[in-house]
Amino acid sequence: MNKILSVDVRPAVSSDTSSIFAMGVQIFSEESFENYFKYLSKKYRPQYMVAQHNGQVVGFAIYKLYPGRIHLFIVAVHPDWRRKGIGSRMLEMIITKLNLKKPLITMEEVRDGNLGFHLFLRDFRKKIGKSGFIATKVIWGFFEDTGEDAYVFKFFPFMFGN
Ligand SMILES: CC(C)(COP(=O)(O)OP(=O)(O)OC[C@H]1O[C@@H](n2cnc3c(N)ncnc32)[C@H](O)[C@@H]1OP(=O)(O)O)[C@@H](O)C(=O)NCCC(=O)NCCS
Repeated sequence: MNKILSVDVRPAVSSDTSSIFAMGVQIFSEESFENYFKYLSKKYRPQYMVAQHNGQVVGFAIYKLYPGRIHLFIVAVHPDWRRKGIGSRMLEMIITKLNLKKPLITMEEVRDGNLGFHLFLRDFRKKIGKSGFIATKVIWGFFEDTGEDAYVFKFFPFMFGN
């Protein structure tokens, strides 16, 4: 698969909202994304990031930056633009946000059945070598709609003693 070289990853501005929303609805289904989006906005007032290619928003991430740590809620790439390194670019950018030797990043509620995302995190760990996201907890049957388990992932920097 050809990788795109020219992807601009940047903080979202208000004019990106409709693109983020349209993509979120397409990927996660209308009702669940709308509810989650509202819930996140109200409870966390998070930060939004977009990946843009040739003027088009092709991916987004939602996270909350706290002093010394990040809570990552969503990383998503438009189905037409996957497997081109865009998700990895956003993750790299999020990690550099902390600008710390030991960034602490948590991603909660990853569905057991989201194999693509599990493999994506595994690949990211391999790519950056000595650090990466590791599942630290399983919440049995967390998702009421499907009965799936939820995984909690944490980013471990330099876990092999660098
Ligand atoms: C998970 C997701 C963000 C990955 O984005 P992406 O831009 O396609 O990821 P990348 O191109 O950076 O992938 C890097 C590597 O991860 C692995 N990978 C990514 N998606 C994969 C998949 N569906 N199946 C297997 N491996 C996958 C591959 O090793 C890939 O490298 P390769 O293409 O050279 O083989 C994207 O598939 C997505 O938006 N999924 C739906 C939203 C979602 O479920 N988000 C997570 C919960 S919020």
